[in-house]
Amino acid sequence: MAANANQVFIAVIGAGGVGKCFLSQLQSLAARRPSPKLTLCYLATSRKALFNDDYSAVNMDNALDSLSASSRTPPPLPQVIEYLAAAPAKTILVDNTSSQDVADHYPLALSRGVSVVTPNKKGFSGSYQLWQEIFIASSTSGAKVYHESSVGAGLPVISTLKDLVDTGDKVTKIEGVFSGTMSFLFNSFAPTEGQGGRWSDEVKKAKSLGYTEPDPRDDLNGLDVARKLTILARLAGLPVESPTSFPVQSLIPSQLESCTSGDEFLEKLPEFDDQMEETKTAAEKAGKVVRFVGSIDVASKSVKVGLEQFDRSHPIAALKGSDNIISFYTERYGNNPLIVQGAGAGGDVTAMGVTADLLKVISQLS
Ligand SMILES: NC(=O)c1ccc[n+]([C@@H]2O[C@H](COP(=O)([O-])OP(=O)(O)OC[C@H]3O[C@@H](n4cnc5c(N)ncnc54)[C@H](OP(=O)(O)O)[C@@H]3O)[C@@H](O)[C@H]2O)c1
Repeated sequence: MAANANQVFIAVIGAGGVGKCFLSQLQSLAARRPSPKLTLCYLATSRKALFNDDYSAVNMDNALDSLSASSRTPPPLPQVIEYLAAAPAKTILVDNTSSQDVADHYPLALSRGVSVVTPNKKGFSGSYQLWQEIFIASSTSGAKVYHESSVGAGLPVISTLKDLVDTGDKVTKIEGVFSGTMSFLFNSFAPTEGQGGRWSDEVKKAKSLGYTEPDPRDDLNGLDVARKLTILARLAGLPVESPTSFPVQSLIPSQLESCTSGDEFLEKLPEFDDQMEETKTAAEKAGKVVRFVGSIDVASKSVKVGLEQFDRSHPIAALKGSDNIISFYTERYGNNPLIVQGAGAGGDVTAMGVTADLLKVISQLS
């Protein structure tokens, strides 16, 4: 079949919080922009798939209902990629999962000419080898790869850093609050105006408001922030081997690492409130507040994640709610960093970053 230059096929893997919002944004995008024609050709979760062997369109208007009603199971990923590579127009794979397995298949997809757009951190923050394979496959085949929402959700963090680097500025340091959960916890545990709640109460509150993972230890171990720092450090030119190859402070008391459930962890956490209270008091005595931050010092090639004290007037201390803040210190910006700030989580804003990436790929394909 001859490739149709005025059509782009879109395959979506993952239909959870972000995937559902993305599908709704895609539907209105397709209606607003008739050219090139955006055709949904594949939709899958881990157990179900929706696609037609002849590449006829999956109806976007009721795609989620049709997916639930579908009796097809997802084929193995190499087979999905062959299906997409053989489509009669350019194809973009949108990975809205947090799956390592899907991320491991990006080099294959890219090498077969299928572009990739994703908020999934796994492909860019795992082994350095996978990172290299992804970008080599992309530059060899010409297929594009964008992952703006893998750091700071829809905030323009990755595009800003790429623009700084590509235009020849010298990034010296990147520092910020990269986790909505950690932001919420510390803004309420140690507010700039003083006081704040007990640590374990704040963790419970964050969980009940849906700000934490089902097991809050998945936020408190710092790995999510370490993955984001790994991505930014690599984009700034540091060949960071993995998110565990630099110091990452975990806020899980060692005695609670072996708890068998998140509920057991939350039940025992109050026994360790004194440790966090001491940290807060020490900062207060110095006229400061404590925050959980990540930083990259490019010159000394040092990357770290953990607790640090900040003056109450510092932009990091003054953050509100669950917002993220990322400061880029560069030669051009001098002592006043370029700052990106705002919601760093949530289905709609994360999907916005994915949809914006999709538009970038479409403009380069057509
Ligand atoms: N939510 C946010 O605020 C936010 C912010 C920034 C970045 N992100 C990133 O966005 C991605 C999606 O997050 P989410 O909150 O939407 O997650 P989620 O609600 O857990 O949804 C994940 C979706 O992926 C599917 N899935 C998982 N593994 C799969 C596999 N191997 N093959 C096919 N489908 C698979 C799941 O299907 P089943 O239900 O069948 O397992 C589900 O539909 C993650 O990488 C996350 O880190 C999210």
